[in-house]
Amino acid sequence: MPAPALSTPGFHHITMVSTDAPRTLAFYGELLGLDLVKRTVNFDDPNAWHLYFGHDGGRPGTILTFFEWPHARRGRWGVGGIHHLALGTATRETQLKWKRRLTDAGVPVSGPLDRGYFTSIYFADPDGQILEIATRGPGYAIDEPADALGRELVVPPVGRLPGGRDEAAIAAATCPEPVPAVTEDMRLEGIHHITGITDDIDRADAFYQEALGLALVKKTYNQDDARILHWFWASYDGATVGSHSALTLFGWPGSNHRAGPGAGQMHHIAFRARDDEEQAAWRDHLLGMGVDVSPVTERDYFRSIYFRAPDGLLLEIATDGPGFGVDEPAESLGSALKLPSWLEARRSEIEGSLVPLS
Ligand SMILES: [Fe+2]
Ligand SMILES: [Fe+2]
Repeated sequence: MPAPALSTPGFHHITMVSTDAPRTLAFYGELLGLDLVKRTVNFDDPNAWHLYFGHDGGRPGTILTFFEWPHARRGRWGVGGIHHLALGTATRETQLKWKRRLTDAGVPVSGPLDRGYFTSIYFADPDGQILEIATRGPGYAIDEPADALGRELVVPPVGRLPGGRDEAAIAAATCPEPVPAVTEDMRLEGIHHITGITDDIDRADAFYQEALGLALVKKTYNQDDARILHWFWASYDGATVGSHSALTLFGWPGSNHRAGPGAGQMHHIAFRARDDEEQAAWRDHLLGMGVDVSPVTERDYFRSIYFRAPDGLLLEIATDGPGFGVDEPAESLGSALKLPSWLEARRSEIEGSLVPLS
């Protein structure tokens, strides 16, 4: 396959569905310690909250957004959907702090599991969205040369698979002290990876390489069910795998167990374009591939185009700018309801329809 003309540096944001915005704010803001960087409404459904969380004022790759749909049915994961979202943490020690903090808050946690390339704990948000906290390292070069990732199918060692793991030691591992506050060392680092499910992993490989310029950096098996392929793509220049860029898919060939939209499910994933010019090039590139792409849509904090992966997953390419400081000062991001100018005339009606956050 020829080298792609364009390659995304990674994720811009991920958007999920909540049934209860105040509960989502308590979970992601207070318990997980993310900053609320924008409180606004769904531009396509203005009586519904749209909350944005992120770091450093909403740096691309750290942004999690939520549509609040109080009456949404529970979604389900499956082909064409996302299974889980992993957020980064520095080390296994900080990960164990997270396990203790979450467990003490009544959130069941499994792991830490050695995934080889990182160590993982798993839990769910109040709507059932599966979340993971993964360590930065040791990275993808533990079983392949750093300059030749993704070339060979890697069989995980039995010690990392069910039956080979010391489940009692895994369950017992935690931080010995309570963790009542999110300390600086344990601060979450944004999107570590996003894992979905596809019914055709070869077709997905061709699509993500050609459409988004991502590189295949690992071909292995699901370490909880080694009959299932698990492939990883990322921004990769042949030497370094970019942070906030790893998309991974489980292969369910021939499966018709489709993902169902709804609460506790991801709505879409957005990748980055550095600027409007690059986004226009992406749009031309995708159209040239025969992909059905939306026109550029103004989202005030970025501009977006939307399209679907061959398995149905909704994707977006969003510009890095202008960013969340466009309509409120950096020091007070997320403190007031912000509306796009064309909705300001309806402000009192919209405010009256939204459940107060805090
Ligand atoms: Fe994961
Ligand atoms: Fe989006």
